[in-house]
Amino acid sequence: LASIEADLSPVQEGMAISVMWRKKPVFLRKRTQAEIEQARATDMDTLRDPEPDEARVKRPEWLIVVGVCTHLGCIPLGNKPSEPRGNWGGWFCACHGSHYDTSGRVRKGPAPSNLVVPPYEFVDNTTVKIG
Ligand code: FES
Repeated sequence: LASIEADLSPVQEGMAISVMWRKKPVFLRKRTQAEIEQARATDMDTLRDPEPDEARVKRPEWLIVVGVCTHLGCIPLGNKPSEPRGNWGGWFCACHGSHYDTSGRVRKGPAPSNLVVPPYEFVDNTTVKIG
């Protein structure tokens, strides 16, 4: 399937769910206000792959990224708050220790680039079309 529709209604604030798109997981994360502010307060000079948070989201509360580590392709942990999220509160790739922030940007470890933002659009307030 080239595109899929995902239901956002079960996603609680501070959590993410994973849906499959083109055989890859896509993380749909409903960010807290603190997570949004943390992502937006980041100094671009500290980023390996500098991208402002505003360029990575369409709606501040929804972060949508391909859930594949840009190092060697493991699936990072952190969709649930009970999982390790790394030092910047986003995701942590346990394979070789890459840390991603609350915008899905790499902050530490061997990953060369940020988690990829797939093409998507909001169909309505609880439905997103990916692809
Ligand atoms: Fe994620 Fe290596 S695959 S750190």
